Amino acid sequence: MIFDRNENKPVIALLGAGSMGTAIVRRIAAGKKILLGDISEKNLEKVSHDFEYSGYDVETMIVNALERESVEAFARKAASLGPVMFFIDTAGASPNQAKPEHILKLDMVGTGYAVDAFGEVMAPSGAGLIISSQTGYMYNIPHETEQEILNTPTQDLMDLPFIRETAMQNSGWAYMIAKRVNHLQAMKAAATTWKARRARINTLSPGVIVTPLAYDEFNAAGEGYQRMIDASAAERTGTSDEIAEAGAFLLGEHAGFITGTDLLIDGGTIAAIRTGQYKLGR
Ligand SMILES: NC(=O)c1ccc[n+]([C@@H]2O[C@H](COP(=O)([O-])OP(=O)(O)OC[C@H]3O[C@@H](n4cnc5c(N)ncnc54)[C@H](O)[C@@H]3O)[C@@H](O)[C@H]2O)c1
Repeated sequence: MIFDRNENKPVIALLGAGSMGTAIVRRIAAGKKILLGDISEKNLEKVSHDFEYSGYDVETMIVNALERESVEAFARKAASLGPVMFFIDTAGASPNQAKPEHILKLDMVGTGYAVDAFGEVMAPSGAGLIISSQTGYMYNIPHETEQEILNTPTQDLMDLPFIRETAMQNSGWAYMIAKRVNHLQAMKAAATTWKARRARINTLSPGVIVTPLAYDEFNAAGEGYQRMIDASAAERTGTSDEIAEAGAFLLGEHAGFITGTDLLIDGGTIAAIRTGQYKLGR
């Protein structure tokens, strides 16, 4: 049975085939070719089976976002399948899942590798979306340090004194800083490499979204999380489907004038923090 006779379909590449990433892909995947990349073979099998049995055209590839060569091979594979119109990066680890070094290497450097590699293969009018986090709004990196980060190649980020001294303090700091750096990475790419390909790239910063990753956070830091959720305007957690709705918009044609920026979707948590309604660390 041939479900789809179309050739040279637009390609959607998803790095990190987790809850939010797959929800975003599902919103935009009809009539397209999906390439899923993840470090977990088991996860890829499950997710690709779900896509296949929902009528989508899907391929998978084992990718380790920590390794530049692996991410570059993933980008080349995407380009070999057709015009790469969409790239989504959700490969990440949260503070209670890993040590500072791992978080920085995955959420910051790994994201940089992906932004660099897809900056070589995106099709004109293509769009990218990096999943950052509301935590990227919780600490203001000094302006000069941000400039230094912007001027540092991805492979040298871990050597910056600010990363070695401040970000490595603990996993919470590593995560906050890595997620802020994601905003800078997308901003820089939008103005340089992705611009050169006439492609757009943005970040999306979710608040607390109930996924397996968030469950690890609740289990380890439940009390603080509960107070933060209660202080937010929405007084609830979010869902992957709400992130997918906004993600599909940012990747779609109606967002053609949006590039190099971040969309915060947090139910009002950062508003509560910035206005003193909720104090971090209590
Ligand atoms: N869930 C939340 O509350 C929340 C809030 C803000 C931001 N985020 C961020 O959103 C992103 C996605 O989170 P999610 O909640 O959908 O989590 P998830 O655990 O469902 O998805 C993450 C995926 O990344 C994959 N991955 C991990 N290490 C990898 C590696 N080295 N190479 C390739 N793939 C790897 C995992 O196998 C998993 O499929 C993460 O970057 C996370 O930090 C999550």
